[in-house]
Amino acid sequence: MKAVRLMIFGVAILLLSGAALSALVLHGALTTNMGDQPSFKPQERPLEPPPGSVPQGQWEPVLNRDEAGKVLRNPIPPMLASLENGRRLYAVYCTLCHGENGKGGGPVAAKFVPPPDITIAFFRQRSDGFLYETIRSGGPLMPAQGEALSVKERWDIVNYLRNLQGGAG
Ligand code: HEC
Repeated sequence: MKAVRLMIFGVAILLLSGAALSALVLHGALTTNMGDQPSFKPQERPLEPPPGSVPQGQWEPVLNRDEAGKVLRNPIPPMLASLENGRRLYAVYCTLCHGENGKGGGPVAAKFVPPPDITIAFFRQRSDGFLYETIRSGGPLMPAQGEALSVKERWDIVNYLRNLQGGAG
């Protein structure tokens, strides 16, 4: 009689713990799906840095092009190394729309809005900061190119663009 009672008790314990375990799993306590976590998801805005964070590295203030044109100073002298790097980067990021010499007619220009000749006097009069910001954040139609380029690389392109503009007379 005692043995039977003990067996019933044992089975009851087993059933109960089984039920408790399944409840936990169903509740997600033991889920192993890594997608299910508090981090931000694709297309979601990244989390804001906590208040009082100190920027590390290349944080830049958000400026519009007119402001940038007034306050930003070109820190990279237009020496050969900068111009060479600018030429290389211009070929990768700009030629497709603006053409090799900046006068337009790149292969994408035919499918997109044809860009103006950026070597004419009107664009030569833009300040370095304005050109820098155009590269970084784009124009009314031109897409921003800044994401793929470091601060120095953008200034190198500005220097090279000045060269193109000078070459145009
Ligand atoms: C997808 C095509 C496209 C690419 C790539 C592109 N641009 Fe442009 N860009 C345009 C168009 C269109 C305009 C004219 C409309 C505008 O200003 O948004 C323009 C305008 C400009 C201007 C004139 C801005 C002003 O108003 O003074 C400059 C300078 C310029 N681009 C430089 C560059 C440089 C440098 C690169 C490469 C880092 C580049 N663009 C990449 C399409 C492009």
